[in-house]
Amino acid sequence: MKKQVKSNVSWVGKVDWELLKFHGDEYSTNKGSSYNSYLIQEEKTVLIDTVWAPFAEEYVENLSKEIDLNKIDYIIANHGEVDHSGGLPALMKRIPETPIYCTANAVNSLKGQYHQDWNFNVVKTGDKIDIGNGKELIFVEMTMLHWPDSMATYLTQDNILFSNDAFGQHLATERLFNDLVDQCELFEECIKYFANILTPFNPILRNKLDEVIALNLPIDIIATGHGVIWRDNPMQIVEKYLEWANDYQENQITIIYDTMWNGTKVLAEKIAEGIVSTDSDVNVKLFNLPKSDENDIITEVFKSKAVIIGSPTVGNSILHSVAGFVQLMKSMRFKNKKAAAFGCYGWSGEAVKVLNDLMKDAGFEVIDEGLRNQWNPEEKSIEEAIKFGEKIAKI
Ligand code: FEO
Repeated sequence: MKKQVKSNVSWVGKVDWELLKFHGDEYSTNKGSSYNSYLIQEEKTVLIDTVWAPFAEEYVENLSKEIDLNKIDYIIANHGEVDHSGGLPALMKRIPETPIYCTANAVNSLKGQYHQDWNFNVVKTGDKIDIGNGKELIFVEMTMLHWPDSMATYLTQDNILFSNDAFGQHLATERLFNDLVDQCELFEECIKYFANILTPFNPILRNKLDEVIALNLPIDIIATGHGVIWRDNPMQIVEKYLEWANDYQENQITIIYDTMWNGTKVLAEKIAEGIVSTDSDVNVKLFNLPKSDENDIITEVFKSKAVIIGSPTVGNSILHSVAGFVQLMKSMRFKNKKAAAFGCYGWSGEAVKVLNDLMKDAGFEVIDEGLRNQWNPEEKSIEEAIKFGEKIAKI
């Protein structure tokens, strides 16, 4: 169903209430998502982005009820990833000659995915197309935010920035605009999206945000590729991005562990006790990895100044859940975060050393040799875990 965004601009996307996982199984979308596509009907008719492939037929069918598809003059593909371009094959079957405007990298990604030689028109930052009634579309390359092919499109006069992935969030809602949804829920999804998708590109993002701000384009609306459209104080999300892209952290320590027979879990809880007994201001959060949502934990790591990671020793090493999660943290390229390790063992006890090495390799500053405990924690080792927490709180 078409929904008006502003003037002659409408939303023609798809709200996906059932989506639980995104990027394969890499990203949990506990609140669903949407694939936002926009239709501009000025003297020229322009379609900006499409929807994820499973909804392609439904999308084209719905769109054909709103307009004669042959009246579409230009298609803008801001990004080639399948959640935005997945409607193209079905659409292009109906209107095969329609020009597609995108970056040179998007030609590669679209050809690579769909193996079609569509009518591609390559654009660069600053290129414009006239869509009539005195309005223009201006293109801004958003290279590596988060793909090499990403770009944004700006509509003059209506002052709408079609930002694609940037400033989006995975949130299914029938309420199209940011001011109509629960603000806590909205910003929880925004920070999760930033932490899990954009953190690795922080240096690029900082430069790009400066570049976009320097363009001095008046922005009344940021129309994203996922979730709500920012119409109420749209610059609030740009300001949040500026804050988050600057190696953001809060006064938080996150303890992450897996446990076999609860010994390492007891250590985790006692370390937390030691931290809060020393620093009542610090926000301490504990996560038993297999019982938690890994993307939510990444968000907590994003907010943390230190991560305390635990695993029992198994097979002279660590549990695979912890190893996998350290790899996930490494891929986020976090900066300026401290770390320490802990874990129980029966006879050899290599886990803490393995964790120290992995955390260093993941870019964390390991601030202590770590806490090792043989067999189950008893009075003395519980005392040591509390002391370990006290020490961590002071660093
Ligand atoms: Fe990079 Fe929403 O796709």
